[in-house]
Amino acid sequence: MPRVLVLNGPNLQRLGTREPAIYGSATLADVERDLKAAAPEHVEVELRQTDDEATLISWLHEAVDTRSPVIMNPAAFTHYSYALRDASVLVTEAGLPLIEVHISNPHRREEFRHTSVVSGVATGVIAGLGVEGYLLALRYVAARIGSIPGA
Ligand code: DQA
Repeated sequence: MPRVLVLNGPNLQRLGTREPAIYGSATLADVERDLKAAAPEHVEVELRQTDDEATLISWLHEAVDTRSPVIMNPAAFTHYSYALRDASVLVTEAGLPLIEVHISNPHRREEFRHTSVVSGVATGVIAGLGVEGYLLALRYVAARIGSIPGA
């Protein structure tokens, strides 16, 4: 069964209590539940979170090796991790979608958030639509998963 990896970077396990005026009150467990409920029967959704850059990179390598499309909120790594960008290239160069998701709209926030080193190598970017962005990304990926060789 094709699997979509939903990868989350640092501090996102704190969703629900972390700056709720910016990120809302839904927890990452809520996001996981909603994604699993929304996934078509033939698509498995696996949500993970880490505060560790190396772990996130290894999950992108795993996505390449297992032909898994990726939905990723790289959190603060978005803005400065060239290593994460390089790993993201491997995903899209392998012909797999990688959708970058941000709960908030970084462009309406501090200047350092206006740069994403990942966007330039992502398939697409969804930002500022709250946790619904994950669901929209899943809808996009699920609609195309049948035409991704090996997924
Ligand atoms: C975020 C935006 C980032 O700037 C921030 O560092 C995060 C969350 C978002 O989902 O809006 O941790 O990626």
